[in-house]
Amino acid sequence: MSESTELNELIAGLVQEERLVHAVFSKPAARQADVRRVDLRPVALKEGLKYQQTERRGRQEFHENLEPAAALERMQSLAGAVFRHVHIDASDSQWSARFNKKGVCRLQKQKLSSKRASKPAEHDQPKSHLIPEGTPAPFLVATGLMSPAGNVKSGRHAKLRQINRYVEFIHDIAGRLPQDETIRVMDFGAGKSYLTFATHYYLTEILGRQVSMTAIEQRPEIVETCRRLAGELQLTDLEFAQGTINDFQQREEHVHLAMSLHACDTATDDAIGAAVRWNADVIMAVPCCHHELASTLPRTSDSPIHGHGILHERFCELQTDAVRAELLDYVGYDTTVMEFIDLEHTARNVLIRAIRRGAQPFGPRSPNDRTPRAAFSSSLGLPPLRLQRILEECGVLDSAE
Ligand SMILES: C[S@@+](CC[C@H](N)C(=O)[O-])C[C@H]1O[C@@H](n2cnc3c(N)ncnc32)[C@H](O)[C@@H]1O
Repeated sequence: MSESTELNELIAGLVQEERLVHAVFSKPAARQADVRRVDLRPVALKEGLKYQQTERRGRQEFHENLEPAAALERMQSLAGAVFRHVHIDASDSQWSARFNKKGVCRLQKQKLSSKRASKPAEHDQPKSHLIPEGTPAPFLVATGLMSPAGNVKSGRHAKLRQINRYVEFIHDIAGRLPQDETIRVMDFGAGKSYLTFATHYYLTEILGRQVSMTAIEQRPEIVETCRRLAGELQLTDLEFAQGTINDFQQREEHVHLAMSLHACDTATDDAIGAAVRWNADVIMAVPCCHHELASTLPRTSDSPIHGHGILHERFCELQTDAVRAELLDYVGYDTTVMEFIDLEHTARNVLIRAIRRGAQPFGPRSPNDRTPRAAFSSSLGLPPLRLQRILEECGVLDSAE
């Protein structure tokens, strides 16, 4: 039996036994193909089991729910003839098939150590998450957040909510990342790396993109643990670099996505500064503690703000993040400041998202839109903050402006 026939029989068996979790068809056989990728997943609807088909055309996605028989026919017609790569997640195994230019199929099975839940996603759940409970994601099982059956461990629901919230932000900017080229991702101050692994999982396993990801973390013991996990998960395209953000400043040229999530104090500025210098297309920064301004602005008892510790701190946080957002906008990024996750989870809940305007590495929106540097600091009565100094030192901002 040819491996192509074997693949068709495999798909038929998985649909019949309701063991299919997710099928991805990518790498179109025709160069000019309109549809770049098709995903199928089982979904439990009131009217019974269906397969949700997602077709990606350019940056748009089109959804359709198919009966099991129609889904089976569709999958068999796509494999080989329309797409040369097929990836199948079943409840107890993973498969990949590659068709060469002559249409010859190579089918490979990868047995999973843990049983996957093929239970279809319930559409009437209050909110459907991009990484849902009930479907074991290998990184969540390996990091101990989920059981091998896909159940979230007691006390870890808030973390999964945070992960899903962050992945939604990645989902929103995915169209800004390369479709057919390897996506270069840098994560600054990765810590225990839940969000690093989540971003990698979402881009590679859910969106089916190629990535090359580097996570930088200064604490050696955490880096060791993360490297071990990445090894167990066989993630050869995710590396963990031990050291400070500044150690790595000279090593990169172009980055598609730079993230810095809860990196301490001015480490956020080091990360944003490096990301701007490396022409990152998208920057995601969730600042953490803000000591720089809080320790430079005087705490005067006669000030209605600076006379109160908590107001002084909050004021400094707001001002620092406002300056960061303004600077990013000024050097060529469309910048939005958003709520990362509800305050009940963490007080550090501001996400600064910056998306590079056009192909120009740096520069204001238009020649008429040059905000003088004074707008970021002097008018606020602030000394130049670290991000401003970094951008001046590397020549992105002209210190004479
Ligand atoms: C609070 S953890 C956040 C981890 C992860 N990004 C998250 O959001 O879950 C911040 C991490 O940044 C690391 N870090 C702080 N400053 C750094 C620097 N300059 N270079 C590299 N890592 C840094 C710390 O060691 C710590 O592990």
